[in-house]
Amino acid sequence: MKTQPILGKQIDDIDISKPLYTQQKKLIEEALYTHKVIVFKNQKLNDQTQKNFLFNFGEPFVMNHDTPTLGSDSTNDCLIVVGNQASEYKNPYLGFQEVLPHSDHQWLEKPSSVSALHAIKIEENSSPTIWYDMQTAYELLDEKIKVEIQNIKIITYNPFYRPFGSVSSKYVKREFDIPPGEINPHPLVRTHPVTGKKILYMNLAYEIEFENIDYSNGIELYKTLQNHINSLTNIYTHNWEVGDVVVWDNRATIHYRPHFNEKIKRVLKRVSLSGEKPY
Ligand SMILES: [Fe+2]
Repeated sequence: MKTQPILGKQIDDIDISKPLYTQQKKLIEEALYTHKVIVFKNQKLNDQTQKNFLFNFGEPFVMNHDTPTLGSDSTNDCLIVVGNQASEYKNPYLGFQEVLPHSDHQWLEKPSSVSALHAIKIEENSSPTIWYDMQTAYELLDEKIKVEIQNIKIITYNPFYRPFGSVSSKYVKREFDIPPGEINPHPLVRTHPVTGKKILYMNLAYEIEFENIDYSNGIELYKTLQNHINSLTNIYTHNWEVGDVVVWDNRATIHYRPHFNEKIKRVLKRVSLSGEKPY
């Protein structure tokens, strides 16, 4: 296997609040799909310029308000406040709890493709965000497992049908509890539409099942892949500072937020791009 480019790259000397030149757009896009997570420091954005910046690279991800997901109860279709101690906002989400590694919207028919988080207010000792490279995760699998999983579909149950914080990461045992909501099985090995690379499309956060696999085989495979993901070393840890903008490839990575002290203020704003049905 070839060595993978390091996950995460800082890009300096671009003011992303301004319209981008063609060359800048190209440079950013190449960095995004090579390094999967890119970082801009000391940016001064408002809601509109954050959206304008990201929409250089695709169409907005707009929530369907009939399907619960993060922010679907808010009237703002494209921008979500990820905030703790953020009572100045009408709908701040995600509080201070641990959010286990996941790709956003994996339960939807068409999950978002790319997101940008902008740090608005970050007090000391708040939590970092940590990304894992799922292209590397696929490439590092044993050849035998690659063959075994090549046609398997993964069902990720939408956690937002359950009370916030009540869903734990687990392999579903149908005799006990079938999680509510619509089901959108996706390839466990998906192909990136831009890079053409294969990606292990699995999260460690939600209720999961492999389609048409019996429970004992399913949970065994789930544990194997879970251990594999937990052993990955191609990760990027971002310690937030006000003015940071981090853009990530939501197809090729999963991200994790550790728990932090509930009294600490931490406010970020997220905008996302729409994506295709994974294949
Ligand atoms: Fe997320």
